[in-house]
Amino acid sequence: MTTPLRLGIAGLGTVGTGVVKIVRQKAELLAERAGRPIAISAISARTRDKDRGVNISSYAWEDDPVALATRDDVDLFVELMGGSDGPAKAATEAALAAGKHVVTANKAMLAHHGQALAEAAEAAGAVLRFEAAVAGGIPVVKALTEGLAGNDITRVMGVMNGTCNYILTRMQSAGLPYDEVFEEANQLGFLEADPTLDVGGIDAGHKLALLAAAAFGTRVDFAAVELEGIERVTIADIRHAEDLGYRIKLLGVAQMTGRGLEQRMSPCLVPRKSPLGQLEGGTNMVVLEGDQVEQIVLRGPGAGEGPTASAVMGDVIDVARGFRATTFGMPAHALAAARPARTATPAPYYLRMALHDKPGALAKVATVLGNAGISIDRMRQTKHRDVTAPVLIVTHKTTRDALDDALKAMGGLGVMDTPPVALRIESV
Ligand SMILES: NC(=O)c1ccc[n+]([C@@H]2O[C@H](COP(=O)([O-])OP(=O)(O)OC[C@H]3O[C@@H](n4cnc5c(N)ncnc54)[C@H](OP(=O)(O)O)[C@@H]3O)[C@@H](O)[C@H]2O)c1
Repeated sequence: MTTPLRLGIAGLGTVGTGVVKIVRQKAELLAERAGRPIAISAISARTRDKDRGVNISSYAWEDDPVALATRDDVDLFVELMGGSDGPAKAATEAALAAGKHVVTANKAMLAHHGQALAEAAEAAGAVLRFEAAVAGGIPVVKALTEGLAGNDITRVMGVMNGTCNYILTRMQSAGLPYDEVFEEANQLGFLEADPTLDVGGIDAGHKLALLAAAAFGTRVDFAAVELEGIERVTIADIRHAEDLGYRIKLLGVAQMTGRGLEQRMSPCLVPRKSPLGQLEGGTNMVVLEGDQVEQIVLRGPGAGEGPTASAVMGDVIDVARGFRATTFGMPAHALAAARPARTATPAPYYLRMALHDKPGALAKVATVLGNAGISIDRMRQTKHRDVTAPVLIVTHKTTRDALDDALKAMGGLGVMDTPPVALRIESV
């Protein structure tokens, strides 16, 4: 009989119970695939006597996740509690210090402490893996660090927050305003306890920072992600975008440029007929581009018990097989400090503004754009009964800096009361 890989699982919520179920229900299959049995030694959560819909009576219980992580009968610590710091970080550090392998689904922890934890794993000769932390059930970390290891990755893009995609597609299909759909998503339990993590783009930004590290061999740099949430996207923007042949998505883009690493998570217009434009509801999509492979599109469930536990188990089985993968696709000490670059890659932009309905207002806006070197591709003035005239402009390619200069100058023209909405049009 081969030696089992013994798990200690901290966190028995949505993902944790999913993992326990797979280990229990597929024991034989997992043993065959891994070449050795996978067993659970001990578990931990906040409340011991909670019905979790799965029989956990045969596992040792620890109140303290740090104690769990360092038990002698635990080879692999599975961290499924969440939170960037606190018990998740303390227990992960303790596990690595004790030479245990760690598998986690915790993007917040890795986005903030990924480099230090990867170095700790390396120093201990242990494995730290995080497939479930990015795009739920989609094995995108493996795709990047294994399947595409022979490529120079040029760009990584993705819709990686299902809740935001649900809100945007629901606004579109039902014609409902943001606030109403936000409340609906809240009632359905789709939003994090702190909803700004979702709608503010922070959760998706965490994932993008992790993907960028794996794609470009750089240290995780979440602080350098330019973040903009979906709160300012209106039903009017969604309708105008549709009329112009686009859909609005909270899109993450990481690309290495001559100026450094650009990372942005923001609502963007993407062509309606592109795979990203067609993405509906809570589904995630990641687009990977490499110099050899050109483009790969991965699509699948970004959250939920089964999909996330599936990704956790992929990492667990790798460890059981003896696969000693590095955390971000190369040794932690070899990861370069990313030179962060503010978005400078030119793109067309969508602008929506409400101009005072007075002669010359639009001409003044056009002059400001011209002075900033921005040319107009398309312009539309939509019907109105108000004292302000809604105007849509699609620019030719320009830089964000030039656009910001123009937006600032427009503010001083006295022809609008609120700043224009400016959304990037991403080529996909
Ligand atoms: N849910 C998803 O679809 C999904 C997708 C991708 C990644 N993730 C990530 O997976 C991780 C877990 O998410 P989840 O949705 O499963 O969370 P969850 O349902 O809220 O469960 C969290 C679990 O952690 C336990 N816990 C919390 N604080 C603890 C502490 N101080 N000590 C011991 N146990 C503690 C809770 O105990 P009690 O049950 O006793 O309260 C609960 O069992 C997070 O990092 C999350 O970002 C989740």
